[in-house]
Amino acid sequence: MSQQDDAAASARELRTLINYHAHRYYVLDSPEISDAEYDGLIRQLEQIEAEHPELVTPDSPTQRVGAAPVEAFGVVEHRLPLLSLANVFSGEELLAWHKRVLNLAEGQDLDFVCEIKMDGLAIALTYDEGRLVTGATRGDGYRGEDVTQNLRTVKSIPLSVPKDAPPRFEVRGEVFLPRAGFKRLNEDRAREGLPLFANPRNAGAGSVRQLDPRITAQRPLDIYVYALGYAEGKAVPDTHWERMEYLKSLGFKVNPGNRLCRSIAEVEAYRQEWEEKRAGLPYDADGIVAKVNSIEMQDRLGFVAHEPRWAVAYKFRAVQATTVLKDIGINVGRTGSLNPYAILEPVFVGGVTVKQAALHNEDDIRRKDIRVGDTVIVQRAGEVIPEVVGPVASKRTGGERVFSMPSRCPTCGAEVIKTEAMHRCTNAACPAQALEKLKHFVSRGAMDIDGVGEKLCAALFEKGLVHDAGDLYYLTREQLLERLDRVADKSVANILASIEDSKQRPLSRVIFALGILHVGGETADLLASRFSSLDGLAGASEEELLSIPSVGPRIAESVMAFFRQEGNRNIIRKLREAGVRLTDAAPAQRGAAPLAGQEFVLTGRLESLTRQEAEDRIRRLGGTAGSSVTRKTARVVAGADPGSKLDKARKLGVPVISEEEFLRLISSGTEA
Ligand code: IVH
Repeated sequence: MSQQDDAAASARELRTLINYHAHRYYVLDSPEISDAEYDGLIRQLEQIEAEHPELVTPDSPTQRVGAAPVEAFGVVEHRLPLLSLANVFSGEELLAWHKRVLNLAEGQDLDFVCEIKMDGLAIALTYDEGRLVTGATRGDGYRGEDVTQNLRTVKSIPLSVPKDAPPRFEVRGEVFLPRAGFKRLNEDRAREGLPLFANPRNAGAGSVRQLDPRITAQRPLDIYVYALGYAEGKAVPDTHWERMEYLKSLGFKVNPGNRLCRSIAEVEAYRQEWEEKRAGLPYDADGIVAKVNSIEMQDRLGFVAHEPRWAVAYKFRAVQATTVLKDIGINVGRTGSLNPYAILEPVFVGGVTVKQAALHNEDDIRRKDIRVGDTVIVQRAGEVIPEVVGPVASKRTGGERVFSMPSRCPTCGAEVIKTEAMHRCTNAACPAQALEKLKHFVSRGAMDIDGVGEKLCAALFEKGLVHDAGDLYYLTREQLLERLDRVADKSVANILASIEDSKQRPLSRVIFALGILHVGGETADLLASRFSSLDGLAGASEEELLSIPSVGPRIAESVMAFFRQEGNRNIIRKLREAGVRLTDAAPAQRGAAPLAGQEFVLTGRLESLTRQEAEDRIRRLGGTAGSSVTRKTARVVAGADPGSKLDKARKLGVPVISEEEFLRLISSGTEA
């Protein structure tokens, strides 16, 4: 055998081996060799092909890297049109579809194949004599674009099929960009300052319709095939289900979520199941597709207009919709942050009408290139706040306006400064901030003033009864009854009682309630246990503050700035004069503080006291309550159904005690 024959044989052998492992990896998701071993095989083949260029075949696994760019795509005439699907949106509509089909089927029993409806790009792949020859987009259904060179770079699309495959056939499927790939792609683009893709579908379609296949090659596109278009020269199975099994055997990737259903009730159950599991899918899906299983019956049922009668898309509730961004409003937060939000032409999405949506900050608006007047994509997934995903740039008319943050606070007119990504109002007495601060002061975890919620705060503020947290403690029964509409005598009494009650909150809660920028619950605990009074904290030097573990310059600076403000000192004076406790509990206990220096972390449900009560008890005994387990944690208290914190504690060797042991500890502590 000549050296040439030798090389040809090795190349053939390597290709078979590589194709086998690529199929295991990209199609079956079940590799048998490591990535390094696989790369080694590719390198060997590349070397042979470099030395013997005449041996390179178009279906060689080395030929996926992306061919040279083109000026425009060629046109592909589809031999059989690529149709779309009729949609149904409810169980009743599904039943109506089923009834029509049964009528036409004249009482024949029908099975259905249910598939997940991927939200990607429909394509058709033609194989001739075992090789992929054409890959085309759907286009208008009759003529699509020739994207063969691009689709060749999709690793889960076979470039060749086994010898016993039909001599000529067409396979259809959905090409998509998995969510993880989409996220990575957008992160990269953000870093490079490029406009972001609005969703995986746009990103996937954009990747397939790239004039430069080398760019497509870098995008982790994937495919699931969902139909055999036609097959010549060989008999193929006569049910859709078996055809899918057959395509699998030829090396195509078929969605493992597909299911053969024996009744329409099973179709309904399938939709329900996947609508629930939808968020956990690695790709976007917008519904399910139900198809009559028998191909003979499919042919008998035929088409109406562009839609087959034998299949139907049963859509999930939309989580995205497009609408017009009428304007961008600004909310001023408790810390003076200027938070932009979208004012939208009302749109029905995810089961509710949405009029406003979150826009995160100016940088984000810029990066996504969202302009006032744009048609935008709005998303509402689950119970989260609706957000604007991005603009539909193709709908621009030229009248859109680029947004920039105001240089003055929209509420008080004070100067706005930008720190990191956030714009802030610099006026500590800004009324918008004051109301948010008041809401925070009364909230759970802060002073926890029962009966004084956000609405009452707004009313008190609006009527001029309260300007800041200090004023709460001077409210009278008469004021509340006279000035607030429709409040009963009894609730006024309750409100006043809870305000009175709150005067005894531990120091750490008072510090947290004041709403000092960057001082959350845990930092407030640390500050309270280091300085046993608010005056102590107010007088602390930067050095003293920085000596507390986990207090850095950002927090220290913020604490000092807070106490420098005249307005804040005024609030504290009002609190003091009203009798709000601004020192730590019973100083006599301090010396004995039995839990001093110990950090506790609670996990699971406690039976005899609330989490808040437990944390207060810990603090009163000098300890601190943390939210995550570290080596420094003294003890983890595990209640019922403990979470991952318990595992973490075990892993780090942190002592774990039961609720009972904890109760014993704190009661002996109190006695001490
Ligand atoms: S079958 C004649 N099956 O949905 C039936 N389509 O609205 C042709 N799609 O253009 C389509 N997943 O891009 C079918 N499992 C699936 C699908 C699916 C996604 C897309 C496809 C098609 C569109 C129809």
